Amino acid sequence: MALRDLREWIALLEREGELVRVAAEVDPYLEITEIVDRTVKAKGPALLFENVKGARHPLLINQFGTERRMCLGFGVKSLDDVAVRLEEVLEMQPPQGLMDKVRGLQKLKSIADSRPELVKKGASQEIVLTGDDIDLDAFPIPHCWPGDPAPFITLPAVITADPRTGSRNVGMYRMQKIDKRTTFMHWQLHKDGASDWRGMGERLDVAVAFGLDPITAYSASAPLPKHIDEFMVAGFLRGEAVELVQAKTVDLQVPAHAEIVMEGYIQKGELGVEGPFGDHTGYYSPADLFPIFHLTAITMRRDAIYPSIIVGKPPAEDEWLAKATERIFLPAIRMTVPEIVDYDLPTAGTFHNCAIVSIRKAYPGHARKVINAVWALGLLSLTKCVVVVDEHVNVHDYNEVFFKACANVDPMRDVVMQLGPLDQLDHAPTLEAFGGKMGIDATHKGPAEGTRPWPEEIEMSAEIKAQVARRWQEYGIPTNK
Ligand SMILES: Cc1cc2nc3c(=O)[nH]c(=O)nc-3n(C[C@H](O)[C@H](O)[C@H](O)COP(=O)(O)O)c2cc1C
Repeated sequence: MALRDLREWIALLEREGELVRVAAEVDPYLEITEIVDRTVKAKGPALLFENVKGARHPLLINQFGTERRMCLGFGVKSLDDVAVRLEEVLEMQPPQGLMDKVRGLQKLKSIADSRPELVKKGASQEIVLTGDDIDLDAFPIPHCWPGDPAPFITLPAVITADPRTGSRNVGMYRMQKIDKRTTFMHWQLHKDGASDWRGMGERLDVAVAFGLDPITAYSASAPLPKHIDEFMVAGFLRGEAVELVQAKTVDLQVPAHAEIVMEGYIQKGELGVEGPFGDHTGYYSPADLFPIFHLTAITMRRDAIYPSIIVGKPPAEDEWLAKATERIFLPAIRMTVPEIVDYDLPTAGTFHNCAIVSIRKAYPGHARKVINAVWALGLLSLTKCVVVVDEHVNVHDYNEVFFKACANVDPMRDVVMQLGPLDQLDHAPTLEAFGGKMGIDATHKGPAEGTRPWPEEIEMSAEIKAQVARRWQEYGIPTNK
């Protein structure tokens, strides 16, 4: 059974000893950030702040801060198990035999059942506030870092419809508070929400949902192709459709079981200076022009819980949201580039800065082909540095990768430099969102790629390894074998 809503998720976290309620009064101005940053870096629990100074609602934070909690949220032992379920569907072949047909039908049913379901009533609309009753000050919105100009809403599921096709998009884009009834909408240049906005007429309806079951909340951050509905993917991953209700003041559908929904609109051409913001890059992302979101309604549960996340110098809570994406998307990446064995987006590389990819190398120049393929894949295309290693190298072992990247590389021959699109938050390039990219071919090379014959890599014989493992106790050496 999928987790229905945030309440069931909190109950599970409490049962598993993964949540601490904080009764002491805490200040949303910087104090919460410092508490959460220390907790995350110590791999500590999710926190439910019940008494946030000046706010009328409790604050849930660090719900996604460890691998264990992320797995609990998905109901799996390992995030790779989620990828396996996805792979089974992506790799479906014509069935052979009756059992195969039954299994195939079950898979197809799981896809058919994934479509969001429209229901008449939802807890997310128990209370409906419009006009002067709309007041963002009621919520415990943290003012995250000293250089931020205002409090920032950081864990939203922002819902729009493409004005050209009507297809839904759900994205996680921070929202800087302007006043009780307005915020900025920080969808970056390459994101699907920004694409809907570019296609808008005079007014774009927007709804923002908060406090969802963990899979639906995660789906807002998933870099899906534009035409794929995040709520449908959430339904597939949950094994149960996401239930939606018609919004009260905008032409959109919103999660029926959310804690809070903000409805409103963006007016064509209306921009303001958003930021700076202490970002997941570990730096302040500079102030820039972004659209303004006017709230027309807030709907919510009677005793709504407001969720947030603190990003900053890695590792931060978003590490495991991003790692979930890394794992879940591997099968989809392999559909396009099947020679990819595995990949890793190091947390310290803040995800866009570095991708390590292992490949089954089959021909000269193969690593270069894969470097270019990565630079053509969805949001991975923004990756600044791609390192390609051979299939037997463990991409998650950064020592091993560094060893190969140093030992196997002639920089004049094996480094590919290119100009291309970069993440808008990257401060290093000379221009915003455009600049240099580097591919490093750290695979084994031979005469077919113009090198001298290479020496063999040192490896102990299997026989001696087995012998030493067998006799290890006898030696009396107090180290791991
Ligand atoms: C905690 C968190 C905050 C994020 N904030 C932003 C943001 O402010 N702007 C943005 O464009 N992307 C942000 N992202 C990344 C997007 O959510 C992500 O790229 C997602 O795929 C965008 O959805 P889209 O592909 O439908 O545009 C954030 C991700 C996380 C996990």
